[in-house]
Amino acid sequence: MKKAAGAGSLLLVCLVVFGIIGVCQGGELRKNFYRDSCKSAEDIVRSITWKNAASNPDLPAKLIRMHFHDCFVRGCDASVLINSTAGNKAERDAVPNLSLGGFEVINEIKSELESRCPGIVSCADIVALATRDSVSFQFQKPDLWEVLTGRRDGSVSIAAEADLLLPSPFANFSELKKNFNDKGLTVKDLVVLSGGHTIGVSHCTFFSNRLYNFTGNGDQDPSLDPRYAAFLKTKCKSLADTTTTAELDPGSFRKFDSHYYDILIENKGLFQSDAALLTNKGARNIVMELRNQDKFFTEFAQSMKRMGAMNVLTGTQGEIRKKCSVINNPDSLLHSSI
Ligand code: HEM
Ligand SMILES: *[C@@H]1O[C@H](CO)[C@@H](O)[C@H](O)[C@H]1NC(C)=O
Ligand SMILES: *[C@@H]1O[C@H](CO)[C@@H](O)[C@H](O)[C@H]1NC(C)=O
Ligand SMILES: *[C@@H]1O[C@H](CO)[C@@H](O)[C@H](O)[C@H]1NC(C)=O
Ligand SMILES: *[C@@H]1O[C@H](CO)[C@@H](O)[C@H](O)[C@H]1NC(C)=O
Repeated sequence: MKKAAGAGSLLLVCLVVFGIIGVCQGGELRKNFYRDSCKSAEDIVRSITWKNAASNPDLPAKLIRMHFHDCFVRGCDASVLINSTAGNKAERDAVPNLSLGGFEVINEIKSELESRCPGIVSCADIVALATRDSVSFQFQKPDLWEVLTGRRDGSVSIAAEADLLLPSPFANFSELKKNFNDKGLTVKDLVVLSGGHTIGVSHCTFFSNRLYNFTGNGDQDPSLDPRYAAFLKTKCKSLADTTTTAELDPGSFRKFDSHYYDILIENKGLFQSDAALLTNKGARNIVMELRNQDKFFTEFAQSMKRMGAMNVLTGTQGEIRKKCSVINNPDSLLHSSI
């Protein structure tokens, strides 16, 4: 009751002070939302994430991609965590899901938080915080970027929406720009957030067309460095290979740094969508600037904050899921139709 009243009065303040609701959209996210309701929530997220990151160097890549996929489909509402059911194929079972992972870490954090302060901390906030903490681990710093909290969890997750809304690795610049614009993100956000590809790997499926059959004539993508293409062919031996993976940022795929932009201008970006960032003058200029690591970290922090606030549920919207993989009352919804 108390919380609902708080959310209501905040909205009222927004209306009175700013005159328009627009100013306050996502404005209910704030610093340390759980300060009073679950004091050590953020410390618990960090300690469990760091414990897992210490034994699993691939965790940051898993979580950052999970957070990105979550936010691009129905906003950052942890819809990416919901399991499919008999009547519904959920986001996590969509086509672009191959390397999604880290679910077990989110679940471990959630069950600890449920035992300390039941029903308080959302899965959506856990994903946002754990992503930041996992990436920060290699720096032994609590926060490479600030994460505002107060997100609530959604109850709808549809695979077809993920297929539709997530950008394609085969996209050209104008498609990528539109995809990000549709989410309220700019070309700068696109270039900065693509820097997420400074860590992690991809299956051959998403780039082997560039090696073997770029235009349907058994040709290679001329915008890919030929020597690097030859190397990639030793890994992905044919178009049929769907299981081998290659590093997104060769030589530095576990280090969160600005090296992605260095390999990009050497024409070694793995996806067409990476290479596409060089095909627009404005975007290319941003690529050049982001080779400065301090600049990249500053910009990444800002773009992640924007991405993390996209279409969030706050106040009395949504729910606080008890288990991140299932909505609280599965029977209350008819979510089998698209
Ligand atoms: C710009 C449009 C983007 C496209 C087309 C794209 C596409 C992809 C694809 C196809 C993969 C490989 C998945 C697999 O093999 O299963 C991948 C991996 C990855 N993406 Fe992106 N992505 C984009 C933007 C982003 C953003 C904004 C972030 C985060 C800020 C991100 C972070 C990652 C990470 C960390 C991985 C590696 C995952 C792992 O190693 O498990 N991507 N991406
Ligand atoms: C959700 O699905 C995962 C993977 O299939 C499974 O391990 C987990 O037990 C499921 N969660 C629930 C609450 O059913
Ligand atoms: C991706 O989707 C497939 C097909 O629905 C599913 O079998 C697989 O477990 C999913 N992968 C992850 C990592 O969730
Ligand atoms: C980008 O791709 C879209 C869809 O395939 C196509 O219609 C458009 O012409 C392409 N744009 C450029 C500049 O190649
Ligand atoms: C290359 O693409 C063309 C046109 O789409 C297709 O007919 C051909 O079978 C492809 N080659 C291979 C090896 O898949």
